Amino acid sequence: MTTATAQAAPNIAFIKYWGDRDASLRIPANGSISMNLDGLYTRTQVKFEPELESDRLQVNQQEIKGPGLARVISLLDWVRLRSGRNTPALVISENNFPMGAGIASSASAFAALALAASAAARLELTEHELSRLARMGSGSACRSIPGGFVEWLPGEDDLSSYAVSFAPPDHWDLVDCVAIISQEHKKTGSTEGHFLANTSPLQAARVADAPRRLEICRQAVLRRDFEALAWIIEQDCNLMHAVMLTSNPQLLYWQPGTLSVMHAMQLWRRQNLPVCYTIDAGPNVHVICERWAVNTIVSHLEAVPGVTRVLVAGPGGPARLEL
Ligand code: PMV
Repeated sequence: MTTATAQAAPNIAFIKYWGDRDASLRIPANGSISMNLDGLYTRTQVKFEPELESDRLQVNQQEIKGPGLARVISLLDWVRLRSGRNTPALVISENNFPMGAGIASSASAFAALALAASAAARLELTEHELSRLARMGSGSACRSIPGGFVEWLPGEDDLSSYAVSFAPPDHWDLVDCVAIISQEHKKTGSTEGHFLANTSPLQAARVADAPRRLEICRQAVLRRDFEALAWIIEQDCNLMHAVMLTSNPQLLYWQPGTLSVMHAMQLWRRQNLPVCYTIDAGPNVHVICERWAVNTIVSHLEAVPGVTRVLVAGPGGPARLEL
């Protein structure tokens, strides 16, 4: 087989990855926990073709060159090295959700690429190896290889830094209602953001406290304790944005619509609606709740000024090959 197609879901981090211990290998400063998002996906086909002069990449029917292509080539180079081939590849990728606006399109993209490229090259990688390979493309992509609720064990080198599932998707019907504020590409991507993390005087404290937050989050998921989960998710998100806001240069991802959702949620909570928010490196707000509350929350969100659209996703499965 020289062609393979794979699908992977993006994931939303409950405990965030922000800052690297080793940027070239994407070894994170702290561990992280996430949930894969069902129904949203990147679908990627990799075809090794001897007739090609060099690697080519198409994303959503557009030819990509420059740094986007370079990141894909370095992952393909690893696959070629390991499989002893040096054939160029054509990579065709599609997303069914907006890219570059804080819905981790790079996570699903590099997870699908790692799986499709290794299968097309006939490499039989274990889940840990696939997770490590996806990590090379984008740190959070290592969490889109296993299914359900996933923890990235930070490790200290390439071998020890990968993600594992600690509860399957059907363990808890949590839902991420993604309030889309803007679909524009962000100005500072996360790769650059990770470099800036250490310029904040708050980053060392955030990293030192990570094992406590990871433990609370893991236990809250395992016990399906929404109240405990909500508290720790918001605290962790606010710590990351505090680091971003105090970096040099400063990173401000929030827009007025982002704050409108955050304020509205305080009101909903006073009305006994259990919800919490988390925000990645973009303006969109991920509103987490249990399934029974989804309809009320979506109609509330649609009424908040600045919210253009709401995407709804439950816990998703692992990256998978299309046979
Ligand atoms: O994988 P990257 O380099 O795109 O970084 C992801 C960073 C956040 O989305 C902000 C947090 C996370 O853990 O997903």
